[in-house]
Amino acid sequence: MSYKDQLNTNKIPQHVAIIMDGNGRWAEKQGEHRVFGHTKGVESVREALTAAGEIGVKYLTLYAFSTENWNRPKEEVDALMDLLVKTITMEVESLNENEVRLHVIGDLDSLPPGCKDALQKSIDDTKHNSRVNLILALSYSSKWEITRAIKNIVEDVQEGKLELENIGTETIDQYLNTANFPEPELLIRTSGERRISNFLLWQLAYSELYFTETLWPDFKKEHFFEAIYNYQQRERRFGKTSAQLLSNE
Ligand code: IPE
Ligand code: IPE
Ligand code: MG
Repeated sequence: MSYKDQLNTNKIPQHVAIIMDGNGRWAEKQGEHRVFGHTKGVESVREALTAAGEIGVKYLTLYAFSTENWNRPKEEVDALMDLLVKTITMEVESLNENEVRLHVIGDLDSLPPGCKDALQKSIDDTKHNSRVNLILALSYSSKWEITRAIKNIVEDVQEGKLELENIGTETIDQYLNTANFPEPELLIRTSGERRISNFLLWQLAYSELYFTETLWPDFKKEHFFEAIYNYQQRERRFGKTSAQLLSNE
């Protein structure tokens, strides 16, 4: 029986975040250039997005390019930006057919102008959709995001728009790029690495973490369902005891 058939439809996470890792190793394993792996990885993005839509996951955040990834060889960075523009432009029609709304989090101003424009166009062209929200993390790092939030908070306090004593955790939520999205219940990382790599540090505070050896280009719908199934077997206690949860305290 497939994992999809075994899912509890009452326990589908609202928001799943994925660190799509292992493209380079996937390509190198077969003697190909790393960029070939990135190209293949686009198919896995489609798989994950379709799978999310099929079971009712409302938000899917994909870590596509980190602040630290700017330090890769120029050739690879250029190829990734190129792939991004092509994919985003080509997929708009399919995003609309599937009622997917595109969002981006990250330092968009650091992207090449052509890339930023293509993204903005796709964001605008899909903004009427509401079935699934696809959030691409591009030129994103959590430390960058939190630093920016702190600067904006301080500025608003100085300008009298915000009172120091009114600052709570919800204030921080609102100043992050993810302000309009719920926190991910589940984080998936492919390729066997077990680290967060500067991704959503604040938002993942209580997320369930799922690591798989599967390399991103090999990640198919059934792998996504397997991760959701695994998540559903866990008990999320949020600091309480198991007995409290069972008695609904
Ligand atoms: C993830 O795959 C994609 C990006 C970081 C852009 P990698 O390119 O990190 O692949 P590995 O980890 O080197 O195999
Ligand atoms: C994290 O992958 C970033 C993305 C998936 C876009 P990396 O492959 O860059 O992460 P590290 O550097 O190995 O931790
Ligand atoms: Mg990697």
